[in-house]
Amino acid sequence: MSEQHGGAPAPAPTKKVTVPDLIAMKRDGKRITMMTAYDAAFARLVERAGIDSILVGDSLGMVVLGYPTTVPVTMDDMVRHAAAVSRGASRPLLIGDMPFGSYQAGPADALRNAARFLKEAGMDAVKVEGGAEVVETVRALSANGIAVMAHVGLTPQRVAQLGGFKVQAKTAGAARQLIDDSLALEDAGAFAIVLESVPAAVGALATERLSIPTIGIGAGVDCDGQVLVLHDVLGLYGDFKPKFAKRFAEIGSAVVEALREYDHEVRDGSFPTDEQSFTMKENELLSLQRSLAQRKAG
Ligand code: KIV
Repeated sequence: MSEQHGGAPAPAPTKKVTVPDLIAMKRDGKRITMMTAYDAAFARLVERAGIDSILVGDSLGMVVLGYPTTVPVTMDDMVRHAAAVSRGASRPLLIGDMPFGSYQAGPADALRNAARFLKEAGMDAVKVEGGAEVVETVRALSANGIAVMAHVGLTPQRVAQLGGFKVQAKTAGAARQLIDDSLALEDAGAFAIVLESVPAAVGALATERLSIPTIGIGAGVDCDGQVLVLHDVLGLYGDFKPKFAKRFAEIGSAVVEALREYDHEVRDGSFPTDEQSFTMKENELLSLQRSLAQRKAG
């Protein structure tokens, strides 16, 4: 935590982060921080850490709901979790991730579902995965006043087609396509773009050419900002760690340790103690005991 001169912790920023703020940060060369969250408790902690933006990612499906991919996640799942996030945090820019099947049928479907994020879940913006094939959807969302973040490179909703969670844009041709798609998405009105699992050089070249911020996840240090999945950062998603993620804490092990201790103390009777127990007045207890004794005798 940053410290002020007197050694007291610096207060967390309080001003709401907006879409124009993120664009201004790119212009001013300030790096953007984004983190996923899926519930009120963690959203509160992400906000307290001073992070600029929360993405309620459809990674929800894997790290919280236990699916092997993000594909089964529904719009109802997303709205419920996004609403919890907005109850926990209000200062960061809040972005709801459109799940598979909620926008692929075309702009009308996308508009209806994106509106749910804004009306029912308190999100400020939405995110869609894809390149040229979602340009018209991004244009429609943006033209109708819905701030939209694009997502190219490794797009997990296409994991079957891509043959797994693999690095993308490794050839000159594929990288050129990714940069052209990103420019088309910017032209269609996207306010930012996630670049996932692409060579760092491609992240840098795309960032240089776009006027909207690039948010990297496995796209190198030259992106305008970075996003990671909260459970990867905190060591809450089993032993698996994608190459691009860094564990900033091992909360998972700390949780297991605490629960082992609880298990042990319940079994040996050392929990709860008087400190965790409630008392009643002596006369009430005597009266209860008398009444129970009378019932037994009668
Ligand atoms: O679903 C998600 O969390 C995402 C991020 C990994 C960018 O799309």
